[in-house]
Amino acid sequence: MRVLGIETSCDETSVAIVESTGGALTVTRQEIASQIEQHRAFGGVVPELATRQHLLRLDPMVREALTVTPLSAVDGVAVTVGPGLATSLLVGASYAKALALAAGKPWLGVNHLEGHLFSPFLSRGLPPGRPHVALIVSGGHTLLVNVRGILDYELLGGTLDDAAGEAFDKVARLLGLPYPGGPEVERLARQGDPRAVKFPRSMLDSGDDNFSFSGLKTAVRVHLQKPGRAAPADVCAAFQQAVSEVLVGKTVRAARRLGADTFTVSGGVSCNRTLRAAFEQAADRAGLQALVAAPEYSTDNAAMIAAVAACRFERGEQSPWDLDVNPNLRLAAD
Ligand code: KG4
Ligand code: ZN
Repeated sequence: MRVLGIETSCDETSVAIVESTGGALTVTRQEIASQIEQHRAFGGVVPELATRQHLLRLDPMVREALTVTPLSAVDGVAVTVGPGLATSLLVGASYAKALALAAGKPWLGVNHLEGHLFSPFLSRGLPPGRPHVALIVSGGHTLLVNVRGILDYELLGGTLDDAAGEAFDKVARLLGLPYPGGPEVERLARQGDPRAVKFPRSMLDSGDDNFSFSGLKTAVRVHLQKPGRAAPADVCAAFQQAVSEVLVGKTVRAARRLGADTFTVSGGVSCNRTLRAAFEQAADRAGLQALVAAPEYSTDNAAMIAAVAACRFERGEQSPWDLDVNPNLRLAAD
């Protein structure tokens, strides 16, 4: 089964080809066109700009991929149909449907969050078959998921307000750092002392699997208004430490409670090297295995979408032609 995957749910245009043979997954090609430069001046993603960029970039990227793997060698076309920005999703979905229809191939609308659940396994060549706990940490989502088996999910908890990546972006803005804030905060934090300020570990001991990061962002804002405020590098390091302790603590606890021997981490925030190291150390201490997505599969990408579709196509699934995009699509088991 060879799948052409398309991802246009937010501000990355991505095209990939994934092959599935006997349960193993191989990413034979992946291209990601980031739009960060276009959105930076506005301090965040501007939906209309994102849509226009997808329109400009998607077709040449697909044509380029098809010069290496011809459409005749593709068994199906997959595309993200939600969650995401409505008009961005529509560019990818309309394109994928038209391509599949013209080529006489099946198409499949994929849940972007399910893609993120697959991403830690892509560099290991496997679909997520083993039971485990998954943490998705991106600009739009902070979710803990009980993955009971292949394509079998139970949502454990999510954020009650800001997503983890959103908190990084907002704290960066408070410090006058450019968008997207995550990499900037990480860079500055390297020169800072994480113990310089004690920010709240929100909901670390809430007894459930939910998160909240808006109070932490407010604590940073209040701290920055004080006359004796810490240096920006110290604020970044202390903020990052607070986020890290909450994400790591709650993920490890959920894995232990459910008797899982493995947890995974994916989404843009999992690019953060301090966080990756914290997850790995905590897993070692708890006798668990941590699978953190490789950076090329952490942020939004089409390989994870094609991989989900390869598994679903192999089970005989395909989408009806009238399937619409859904900006608020949730995980099946929500
Ligand atoms: O998964 P992603 O590319 O897009 C969404 O689906 O949201 O995640 C983007 C988010 C942004 O909020 C960005 O600031 C954050 O991931 N991010 C990071 C790092 N790199 C990206 N956060 C912390 N540290 C990083 N190194
Ligand atoms: Zn995402």
